[in-house]
Amino acid sequence: MSEIRPIIIQGGMGIGVSNYRLANAVSRAGGLGVVSGSGLNSVLIRRLQDGDPGGHCRRAMSAFPIQSVVQNIIEKYFLAEGRKGAAYKRAPLFSPKLSQEIVEQTVVANFVEVWLAKEGHSGLVGLNLLEKIILPNIPSLYGAMLAGVDYVLMGAGIPREIPGVLDKLSNHEEAFLKLPTDGASSEDNFKVIFDPKNYFQFDNWAPLKRPEFLAIVSSAVLALNLAKKSTGKVNGFIIEHWTAGGHNAPPRGALQLDELGQPIYGARDEVDFAKFCEMGLPFWLAGSCGSPEKVTEAMKLGAQGVQVGTAFAFSDESGMSESVKASVRQRLQKNENVTVYTDPVASPSGFPFKVIEKENTLFDKKVYEARPRKCDLGYLRSSYKKEDGTLGQRCASEPIDTYLKKGGTIEDTVGRKCLCNGLFAAVDQAQLQDNGYVEAIIITAGDDLQSIKRFVENKNHYSAAEVVQVLQRAATTIQAFEIKNHAPVAQI
Ligand SMILES: Cc1cc2nc3c(=O)[nH]c(=O)nc-3n(C[C@H](O)[C@H](O)[C@H](O)COP(=O)(O)O)c2cc1C
Repeated sequence: MSEIRPIIIQGGMGIGVSNYRLANAVSRAGGLGVVSGSGLNSVLIRRLQDGDPGGHCRRAMSAFPIQSVVQNIIEKYFLAEGRKGAAYKRAPLFSPKLSQEIVEQTVVANFVEVWLAKEGHSGLVGLNLLEKIILPNIPSLYGAMLAGVDYVLMGAGIPREIPGVLDKLSNHEEAFLKLPTDGASSEDNFKVIFDPKNYFQFDNWAPLKRPEFLAIVSSAVLALNLAKKSTGKVNGFIIEHWTAGGHNAPPRGALQLDELGQPIYGARDEVDFAKFCEMGLPFWLAGSCGSPEKVTEAMKLGAQGVQVGTAFAFSDESGMSESVKASVRQRLQKNENVTVYTDPVASPSGFPFKVIEKENTLFDKKVYEARPRKCDLGYLRSSYKKEDGTLGQRCASEPIDTYLKKGGTIEDTVGRKCLCNGLFAAVDQAQLQDNGYVEAIIITAGDDLQSIKRFVENKNHYSAAEVVQVLQRAATTIQAFEIKNHAPVAQI
């Protein structure tokens, strides 16, 4: 375990919202800066096609141990003058048999993001991945580990196999993940396998640092299961409440919706913190924790600290489009209502997903209906067994007839949105499709959006360091109080 654990964690926010710039700023300020690994190969090649302003990605790429790998990517995607209005050249889609090209892109992209997040300081940096987006996960972890990532944080699923994968990768050994596959029988054994030695010829195979693994969970039952049954050591937990931005765990029991169509959460969705304290592993609270009061409350419950997303997502350094950040901050400053809506069906992942309801986003009915369905990024596709016994990939947001031909059901397609394209658009990487359609944005944020008001009281923007400082100050005060009164706050 690292000797010093962070108190303030900046949550991983995909796609491209928690980029290296945000994570670097948070780490410098004393928090754990986390980069999002979701869709990162496409984020990297799109930055290169936009001319890589400042040369940051190419600077990091020049530190990658095999330069021929990096050159392949630069030759294919880098445009010194930018795209000049043309569509982005796409990355190949992931399939369970990982191609040389997709592995190289993924490993390099994660290496670059962590390398830049770590540049120029000695603070801690983490990588966030979603368990459900299985195919890129092992090469993503490997790329981040090549750059010395300190923490891996993973939720949106049950990441039981990840700790063992980290152990294997730290010795450059073959690792695999089982592929949940619709229509598979107990005899099937579908996996995604990654052996670094099949893809890279490094001169130096010295062991890599094994990062700490924090599982993102929403219940003590799941945490206990992970602590006992994972393939390796789980080093702690982020307990994420359903008010958090991004994807949320579904409510326990049968799904019930409120008058606006949002999932109703109840007492069974609240967490038993005493059980977490009994487990003896450090934990952090997430979801509406972006205020000093919440930091104090979390630490009194025995938490090591908090993980915050929303307040960082609208800070200067986040990757979210400047115009989106400015308009949300301005509306909050003027005390205008900015509604956060929890959509139970939008995400092809099947998890509820929070969005800011705003005109001209994919959550505007007119905009949604005007979008021709297309699946050209494919990160949220899931595996199914084809009639011939082989594996296929499908997404409930792809064109409906294609999805039905792949054995999907019509019910699953209703209200589904292309999160991939919408989230890329929200970080200024919107695709221009062949028919001239420009992908519309999707903005996600937590119910805690109002907490941003404190940062824009007298000005119209704020830095990530300001967020860390405000939260850290509360943590220091409560620690000093507890030490004076000889009461333990969290096990440090
Ligand atoms: C814009 C945005 C994107 C997010 N994307 C992810 C993600 O890709 N993976 C993840 O594990 N959590 C994601 N989250 C959740 C955050 O990591 C964090 O746990 C959460 O924001 C904390 O609650 P808060 O929003 O109330 O601060 C996202 C949150 C936001 C606001």
